[in-house]
Amino acid sequence: MIYDFSKPTCRRGTNSYKWDSATGDDIIPLWVADMDFETYPGITEALRRRVDHAIFGYTRVPDGYYETVCRWFEERHGWRFHRDDIIYTSGVVPAISAIIKALTLTGDQVVVMGPVYNCFFSSIRNNGCELSSSPLIYNKALLRYEIDFHDLEQRLSHERARLLLLCNPHNPGGRVWSRDELERVAVLCKKHGVRVVSDEIHCELTLGDHRYTPFGTLPDDLSYGSVTCCSPSKAFNIAGLQIANIVCRDAAVRERIDRAININEVCDVNPFGVLALQAAYSDGGYDWLCQLRAYLTENYRRLRNFFARELPHLPVMNMEGTYLAWVDCSSLGESSEHIEERLMRENRVWVNAGSMYGKEGEGFIRINMACPWSRLEEGIKRIGK
Ligand SMILES: Cc1ncc(COP(=O)(O)O)c(C=O)c1O
Repeated sequence: MIYDFSKPTCRRGTNSYKWDSATGDDIIPLWVADMDFETYPGITEALRRRVDHAIFGYTRVPDGYYETVCRWFEERHGWRFHRDDIIYTSGVVPAISAIIKALTLTGDQVVVMGPVYNCFFSSIRNNGCELSSSPLIYNKALLRYEIDFHDLEQRLSHERARLLLLCNPHNPGGRVWSRDELERVAVLCKKHGVRVVSDEIHCELTLGDHRYTPFGTLPDDLSYGSVTCCSPSKAFNIAGLQIANIVCRDAAVRERIDRAININEVCDVNPFGVLALQAAYSDGGYDWLCQLRAYLTENYRRLRNFFARELPHLPVMNMEGTYLAWVDCSSLGESSEHIEERLMRENRVWVNAGSMYGKEGEGFIRINMACPWSRLEEGIKRIGK
């Protein structure tokens, strides 16, 4: 079946966070990380059948759910784990918060690689931990981020460093970490007794020929005690349905996380999330996803061409994954918050200021490319003005 991602959609008036938070009807929102595309129709059909039943009491998670998650990751990503390794919860951010609570003591350090997804900062802070950010190296010739292994090791060797919170693929910046890079990270973490927590929510969203390597597929001695968070929410545009999984093979660690999930009261999910996940992780879902990836890859190619032609002083990062373009605006000599504010006020387009993702993101803006090209084109033309 062929899916048409160029079909115009209207989200205004649906209580969309991305659309209905705007102050004016003329603003094009290219900020929050969800997509303007309709989801895979198999998901909508499964939800419609459930709605027709018209009784929405508490739900339980069936055996088929676990089997679906295991099958998907084994078949699609070559990552094999047991159903008992899975803990479900209501989102990746609640998962990360519970994991930090379970595996740290007040005052411990959590290492990240900045710039990075902003909710990492609040999860670390809210659990009484200290942020230790290892700045990614901005390789201007290749327009990509690289890990500063020297700085990373220094941070991991700190006596209070307890966890490394990895983002794979990386938001923002769009790196899909290679097996070699992940192994080097894992070796350093093992050497310094730091546990890896890998947020792999963007794992289905690789562009072009890029391939995602699950941290959990590294050799056992490097990955056994690690914890991975994943969800179909980004790739299938079902973030509002609130479903995510934690995968951890070490039973003792898992038990501690499970306890924290219960203490935080995020151990219940809703019937729609459970069904949507099962419909997404299917052959039909995979077919839809392949077409989505091709569309996003093309949006990215066109956006990059536009910037190269019209705004050559604003380099666009080479993206391997995610639908979030990362644009270097440092030549403008303005703070990224000011750029965001000015684009909104004068050009009626809403992007994210890079500084939201840590001080390393200062001077950048993040553009959400997950919408029909006609809308993205109008948005970037407004930026061009
Ligand atoms: C890296 C990363 N993790 C987690 C989330 C949000 O996860 P959830 O909505 O499942 O809490 C996002 C959303 O943009 C993200 O980019």
